[in-house]
Amino acid sequence: IRVGVVFGGRSGEHEVSIHSARSVIENLNPEKYEILPIGITKDGIWYTGLASYKALGTEIPPKLLANQSASPSNLPAQTEPGPTLPTSIGETLDVIIPVLHGPYGEDGTVQGLFELLDLPYVGAGVLASAVGMDKAMMKAVFAHAGLPQCKYQVFLRNRWEREPEPIISLVEKNLGYPCFVKPANLGSSVGISKARDRNGLVAAMNEAARYDRKIIVEEGVDAREIEVAVLGNDEPRASIAGEIVPKADFYDYNAKYVDGTSDLIIPADLPEDLMKEVRDMAIRAYQAIDGSGLSRVDFFLERNTDRLLINEINTFPGFTIYSMYPKLWEATGISYQELIDELIRLAIE
Ligand code: DAL
Ligand code: MG
Repeated sequence: IRVGVVFGGRSGEHEVSIHSARSVIENLNPEKYEILPIGITKDGIWYTGLASYKALGTEIPPKLLANQSASPSNLPAQTEPGPTLPTSIGETLDVIIPVLHGPYGEDGTVQGLFELLDLPYVGAGVLASAVGMDKAMMKAVFAHAGLPQCKYQVFLRNRWEREPEPIISLVEKNLGYPCFVKPANLGSSVGISKARDRNGLVAAMNEAARYDRKIIVEEGVDAREIEVAVLGNDEPRASIAGEIVPKADFYDYNAKYVDGTSDLIIPADLPEDLMKEVRDMAIRAYQAIDGSGLSRVDFFLERNTDRLLINEINTFPGFTIYSMYPKLWEATGISYQELIDELIRLAIE
């Protein structure tokens, strides 16, 4: 089976994607799969060959080193990033794994390209990807499905820039402090800040407005962070739940990827009924966005009420060997390698 692994991309999560893709490539069984790494630069240029192995920092296949024209596909083996037409990849591959996080990767755009090429790909389709990336749409869909969420409001940047006062009043009246301010369309906590007072809110809104025209403000809840991995197409399964224990103020970009200052507790220490409830809710959330392949569903467990609130769904969650998603499956009985096999099977079936 010829597998293209796409990584990098035009999002703030470019580096995270490289880490995820490295783990994927190192765990694809070479006896079963012919692997073609396909990089996308931060400027959106697609490339393959030596340059892609160099960007990943994985071992370069000797065949490729010896004879650059003997790339694992019919594509020219490039030594430096240079234009490879995304539309030319369809002819040489059986399946694509878009190991991309964030906009232009996890949001339905690249999925739309693969649909046009009639090329099977791992993970959520165009609609589920788009809904999962846009926090405003995602929350609307979850609300429709009757999934409990924290209180939130959505604002447009142009309104904030023109008339901040009414927005400040609304936030203070309906949500209070602390609250979290997020660009609607980014992952890995990029552009997110916690506002503790009015000055903090103004700064947080301005920061989020740098990234997106749509901004979400959410009430702060005192909660544990619980995550569940979901796998499957029309009959999805949920893993046992895990817990993130952030050492930073919240599980932000630095805590996730720079300092590594968070602990993953697997399984989460939950009473049986809550464990069952959170797994059921994860499947409902997955089905609500019409998910396929995989997703990680993130929850808050409110400390004083034991109420579960859905926070978000990630249609291509971090996928390094240290990441929550594969670790949850490992603890549920599916190894990293088996997980990739299953995802490829789900893409092709
Ligand atoms: N957006 C990052 C990769 C995650 O959710 O794991
Ligand atoms: Mg996310």
